[in-house]
Amino acid sequence: MTRIKKWWFDDPENRVMLLGGGASSYRGLMSLFMAPRTIIGSWALQIFLKNAAEICTRRKALIITDEVMAEKAGEVISMFERFEFEVKLWGKVLPEAPLSNIKEGAELALDYNPDLLVAFGGGSVLDTVKAIWILYEKEEMELTGVYPLEPLGLRKKAITAAIPTTSGTGSESTMAVVLTDDEEDPPVKVSLMHPEVVPDFALIDSRYVLGMPSHLAMATGLDALTHATEGYVSTWSSEYTESLSVRAIRHIFDYLPRSIKSGKDREARYKMHVASNLAGLSFSNAVPHLAHGAGHAFGKLFDVHHGLAVGVFLPYTLQYHSAVTEKGDRLARELGLTEETARGKGTAALVERYRNFFREVGGPLAGKELVAEEEFKDKFDDLARIASEDPASLVSVRPINEAGYRRFMEHVFYGKDIDF
Ligand SMILES: [Fe+2]
Repeated sequence: MTRIKKWWFDDPENRVMLLGGGASSYRGLMSLFMAPRTIIGSWALQIFLKNAAEICTRRKALIITDEVMAEKAGEVISMFERFEFEVKLWGKVLPEAPLSNIKEGAELALDYNPDLLVAFGGGSVLDTVKAIWILYEKEEMELTGVYPLEPLGLRKKAITAAIPTTSGTGSESTMAVVLTDDEEDPPVKVSLMHPEVVPDFALIDSRYVLGMPSHLAMATGLDALTHATEGYVSTWSSEYTESLSVRAIRHIFDYLPRSIKSGKDREARYKMHVASNLAGLSFSNAVPHLAHGAGHAFGKLFDVHHGLAVGVFLPYTLQYHSAVTEKGDRLARELGLTEETARGKGTAALVERYRNFFREVGGPLAGKELVAEEEFKDKFDDLARIASEDPASLVSVRPINEAGYRRFMEHVFYGKDIDF
């Protein structure tokens, strides 16, 4: 059960850097705001291709997707051909971005030698392409060698464009790559972070999410809500990320119920696609924390969709952090949920609002709604340990260790308010 490999977050110096980056004394000295060139609307692909045809002198594109979206990629491929791109489609991306699958894609890229990589799909596809990009550009490199502050030197062979076909991960705009290291036994979720993997272009065209089934719209919508909320409450947050978060949360409250109800509701699907992108920009630049640290472990161990796995922890995360930050109170006031300024009142109103919203959209209110008690108890030790090792846990607004996670997880599983 011990991991063989060492990743960037296993390095003590990086762990200190990660903690320091959120310290208020650093804020005026070192902050980044990373974003791709973002093209929004139903002409996004044409506008992008007009630009790409100038940048990519060899006009050789590798479009990467999964089996489901490969069936729907015909129109996209035709558009590339209209702009005189030579196109190869690789439609074999697997869910959860397994390392073995990433390596297969990288070999194909090395063989084909494109000057444009295109990610067309949901979060796993987008993350897989970012990882393939690194291995394609840096042939000698292992992904364990990716350190957030060490320059990678990408973009010598190719630029990358991301076209999301779900509305939740926001990965088209983030510096994160969440993959599954299936060379470990059991496989573990690994979060890489690097500013250079923010795609060059993000194409926000909601036509690609019109066919997304309701359950996926709900789960990915809760992921976006978690990104927006964690992006606001994080110690790494800034005026930039807070503004994005507030608009994203408003959109999600207003449009996620409609988006779940009907995939043909073009306005709701568009607004959710935008909300997901705003939330992605926020959390990428403000780092996700407790709900993602807990959710990565919970989702992996119990095979729960990422959006549900992080979403179930969200109200409890706000409660846990409220002992050390007033950000939850401030967020409630910014959302117009309360005018109360007494400490803790806003967070209570926010938690209540989130719980009512979860009831409205059919989201989980406690862990026991997602996992059987026996299975939870069986894997409880692993759950607390793996969550405490996740890099997102390291930047938890209020520190949490393995013992803290045992208490926290138990409360979330049985739906008890965090009162410690
Ligand atoms: Fe997420």
